[in-house]
Amino acid sequence: MSEYRTGLGWDNHRIAPDRPLILGGIRIPSEFGLEGHSDADVLSHAITDALLGASALGDIGMHFPDTDPQWKGADSLQFLRHVCALIAERGYRIVNVDSTVILEKPKLKEYRIEIRQHLATTMAIELDRVSVKFKTAEKVGPVGEGLSAEAQAIVTLLKTAPRV
Ligand code: C5P
Ligand code: MG
Repeated sequence: MSEYRTGLGWDNHRIAPDRPLILGGIRIPSEFGLEGHSDADVLSHAITDALLGASALGDIGMHFPDTDPQWKGADSLQFLRHVCALIAERGYRIVNVDSTVILEKPKLKEYRIEIRQHLATTMAIELDRVSVKFKTAEKVGPVGEGLSAEAQAIVTLLKTAPRV
């Protein structure tokens, strides 16, 4: 028996000076970064939540509370890696991941391949299963005014192991 599952993830972080801008584990040269308890990797957080959503295993805050000092400044790829292990244990394989980062500046497209490769390696899947897109908010709303960054992700999982 095989079964497809879909999961949705969304995240938002406030822009702050003197913080790194990390997307998919890649540090992007920028005059500002994102505020957060962990490394504030908004893209990795959205993808992690999408995987948890597809497997109905809760959300990122349930597994990695932002009140827990062990996650202060944490590399968010460790959250992603951990959730990949959780879903693999339950017999899920990742079919594909699609995502969008919404950020007014800097331009991100020149980092697309590096971000995709890093995410694919972290999730132990092929590069062509990982898509990362970028959008501005056309100067409208908090993202458009340069106050925050958002990311959205959707994943499809295939469960091949028999249900227990
Ligand atoms: O938001 P907009 O439609 O104007 O974005 C046009 C293109 O600019 C996007 O398709 C994306 O390739 C690129 N982009 C980018 N970095 C951003 C926002 C958009 O590279 N921060
Ligand atoms: Mg987050």
